[in-house]
Amino acid sequence: MKDLFSPDLSARIGSLTLQNPIMPASGTFSEDLADVFDLDVLGAHVLKTIMHGTRAGNPTPRVCDMQSGMINAIGIPSKGIDYFRDDMLPYWAGFRSPLVVSISAHSMDEFARLCSEVSLPGVTAIEANISCPNIEADGNAFAMRPDTTHEVVTRLRAETDLPLWAKLTPNTGTPVEVAQAAEAAGADALVTANTMLGMSIDIDSRRPRLGNVMGGMSGPAIKPIALRMTYQCARACNIPVIGCGGISTLSDVLEFLIAGARAVQIGTATFQSPTVMARLITELQGWMVARGIASLDEIIGSIEAPEAGVFE
Ligand SMILES: Cc1cc2nc3c(=O)[nH]c(=O)nc-3n(C[C@H](O)[C@H](O)[C@H](O)COP(=O)(O)O)c2cc1C
Repeated sequence: MKDLFSPDLSARIGSLTLQNPIMPASGTFSEDLADVFDLDVLGAHVLKTIMHGTRAGNPTPRVCDMQSGMINAIGIPSKGIDYFRDDMLPYWAGFRSPLVVSISAHSMDEFARLCSEVSLPGVTAIEANISCPNIEADGNAFAMRPDTTHEVVTRLRAETDLPLWAKLTPNTGTPVEVAQAAEAAGADALVTANTMLGMSIDIDSRRPRLGNVMGGMSGPAIKPIALRMTYQCARACNIPVIGCGGISTLSDVLEFLIAGARAVQIGTATFQSPTVMARLITELQGWMVARGIASLDEIIGSIEAPEAGVFE
């Protein structure tokens, strides 16, 4: 009998080889999803960002709808490092898919300490959410500037031997310089990107729709921004880039891979369709079979773009 063509979906992210390039975006993935699909089909499990101490999060309302997406200002409620180690880690370490722990902090010292404390057996990689406000830099996110990015990634690098992913923000005028600063400081991969800062107003009450006034836009509306950043960073850096932002269909996944992403993260789409990640893996495999594509290497970075690519 003739062998069925079976493409290789594995995605190489530095020293890690994931079984496929589909993984959840931090903050949009929880154990409830195990009720609707086998979580071990995923390339990796990326958890909601944890911070060191216990935190309540932002005032309500914390989410609102917008055309083609949503705005959230959850504010990273956290049960702290002890809860993560004693209650969450034993559950997540029981899966075959590698565990990526997202961490954040408002100061360099707290960030570095947390990075060291989460470098535990059962954790495969650390995703540094450097897109959250830094109180030492007047509330600007670390990843808004190359210098603060370099400083914080250097501090984190010194605290862990685990693969370190830097999750960047689209809220910067210098995405390439920020990405290169993260690479120079020792990041093993980049995640492009977090939410885009936005707001919404209820015209009857004339009040902001979010308790925090401003929040992070996600979903299809931000896809072109995240895709552009993924393309820019993949061209400018030598470390792998993981695309994230507005991905909900197979063609979205393929666009990010063609732009240079080695893997992708799915966030808001899971709220609309909890099984979307499992479906995308099956669809990607089917697409490769139909075209006789043997591995992701034939797709990743295959964009045919004019060399300049400059916007004027
Ligand atoms: C409700 C919600 C909570 C989120 N929480 C986090 C978080 O804790 N840490 C983080 O790095 N990103 C967080 N994000 C951002 C997502 O990980 C992702 O970067 C962003 O939503 C863009 O992807 P998407 O358009 O596929 O949702 C959150 C997004 C949403 C919608």
